Amino acid sequence: MSKILIKTPEQIEGIRKSAQLAGNTLKYISNFVEQGVSTQYLDELIEKYIRDNGAIPAPLNYHGFPKSCCISLNDVICHGIPNEKTILKNGDILNIDVTTILDGYYGDTSTMFTIGDVSEQALRLVEDTEHALYLGIEQVRPGNYFGNIGFMIGRYAKGKKYSVVYEFCGHGVGVEFHEAPQVEHIAARNSGPKMKEGMIFTIEPMINLGKARAVVDEKDGWTARTIDQKLSAQFEHTILITKDGYEILSDVGNYEIFR
Ligand code: MF3
Ligand code: CO
Ligand code: CO
Repeated sequence: MSKILIKTPEQIEGIRKSAQLAGNTLKYISNFVEQGVSTQYLDELIEKYIRDNGAIPAPLNYHGFPKSCCISLNDVICHGIPNEKTILKNGDILNIDVTTILDGYYGDTSTMFTIGDVSEQALRLVEDTEHALYLGIEQVRPGNYFGNIGFMIGRYAKGKKYSVVYEFCGHGVGVEFHEAPQVEHIAARNSGPKMKEGMIFTIEPMINLGKARAVVDEKDGWTARTIDQKLSAQFEHTILITKDGYEILSDVGNYEIFR
């Protein structure tokens, strides 16, 4: 296993700028997320916004991924591929995941959106998954164990009778797209490596209404769905460990996610 990088002040500043751009891309696209639009259309707007801001969409051609962002609807856990055929409809919930490369530095963040009248159960899943992300973030400080992120998220989700996806994890980020460590979203208390000032990584819990298992589409090799076709939700931020806590590098303030 490769070592967890401690970022230099110069790298931190570069990664902060990239993560802010990724967050601002989500804020920008929130204005276009509505019933009747295709996920392809949203992908094109996202690619243009990122390029107009002097950056590159990291997913494009990443291990052969064909589009500039991931858009994952309903039972899709993650890595949904934007396309012309997928049209947002009343009652959908979706995740848009944006990763930018700005001056060589990576920022990675995702959010859920809801379309029109979603079920009470779906709405609660979305809100609870965002809460789970923040429970994980609150564990971030020098000296704590990475496992306590997953311990807190897992305990909360279990209490709500949800399941936590274990086949995809958060990750170190900044100099590359996916760096060490793997950040587990369900873990034992005080397990894993210790956190140190200057580390940067994502927390990106995927929480399911039904079973935890993910099944990757055989035809496209990417789209990961729940095994029982029940709903899944995810939120993601890029986090810096500071001297006494954390900074959410991809936080750009509030915008409307209920569309
Ligand atoms: N952005 C995703 C993550 O949070 C990774 C997407 S990889 C891609 O780690 F190739 F599907 F874009
Ligand atoms: Co990520
Ligand atoms: Co991401």
